[in-house]
Amino acid sequence: MKPGQSLMKHYLQFRDFRAEEYAYLFERTATIKRRFKNYEKYTPLSDRTLAMIFEKASTRTRVSFEAGMYQMGGSVVHLTTGDSQLGRAEPIEDTARVISRMVDVVMIRTYEQTKLERFAAHSRVPVINGLTNEYHPCQVLADIFTFIEHRGSLAGKVVAWVGDGNNMANTWLQAADVLGFTLHVSTPRGYEIDPATADVRDAGCLKVFRHPRDACVGAHLVTTDVWTSMGWEAENEARLKAFAEWQVDRPMMAAAQPDALFMHCLPAHRGEEVEAEVIDGPQSVVWDEAENRLHVQKALIEYLLLGRIG
Ligand code: CP
Ligand code: NVA
Repeated sequence: MKPGQSLMKHYLQFRDFRAEEYAYLFERTATIKRRFKNYEKYTPLSDRTLAMIFEKASTRTRVSFEAGMYQMGGSVVHLTTGDSQLGRAEPIEDTARVISRMVDVVMIRTYEQTKLERFAAHSRVPVINGLTNEYHPCQVLADIFTFIEHRGSLAGKVVAWVGDGNNMANTWLQAADVLGFTLHVSTPRGYEIDPATADVRDAGCLKVFRHPRDACVGAHLVTTDVWTSMGWEAENEARLKAFAEWQVDRPMMAAAQPDALFMHCLPAHRGEEVEAEVIDGPQSVVWDEAENRLHVQKALIEYLLLGRIG
């Protein structure tokens, strides 16, 4: 991307793209995935570099972005807080100015969304949210692509979110708003989803339930996440108690549609937020979800750097 090029886009939260852009991205992902599975070489990003900045731990995000970039002919620079000047208080704005003169796209996993936004405001190249306290758009992108692969469009359907009103829940709420489905949410008291934090234009797509099993009734997809997200470790003991009834179990899955899918962004804790029989059971598509991070992010990077193909 050339400096000052007006078409430059960032992907900082799910609602940064319109429904029509998602339709394109999901079609493009299917093509990229099919060709990759057939060992068709596709290297449109030779001489392009992705910088990845991790201020929190990662397995899937790191491997999927790094492998995806190499598969498309590009290369990767990996930075963490501890091994860069970020850990020695260099301002994020200065870091953005410097890194974005040297690479073509940046992925950041950090704490506050405002930090990501400050980076993006001073970046000459597209910036991708690899998870913040508020959002995890690349994960929900992969999750929805996975649903489409198994069941078709999510429009008009019901997704049940059971557990913490966290970054994944906020992103699902934005996705419901953009793509036109209903999000059922059940959280313990004190851990509710906040439509203002989720920053949705119309919270009409949100239905809140006191009891988690009620949230699952009629759902086409049941999904959850860890009870203690990265950054909240000090609350772990209190959360274990507060969330005890919010474990996705077989009765909850039985309340959902007979062909409902189960998803979890991973890493998972069997016996906490999900019963082993559910995550390892026939309705679970968690491994497809994880794999699809690779394919959707290749389509996303291609879209941000090269625009629409074909
Ligand atoms: N789901 C997800 O983002 O996993 P990692 O924390 O391993 O990247
Ligand atoms: N909500 C979790 C997701 C991890 C991929 C966290 O932020 O730690």
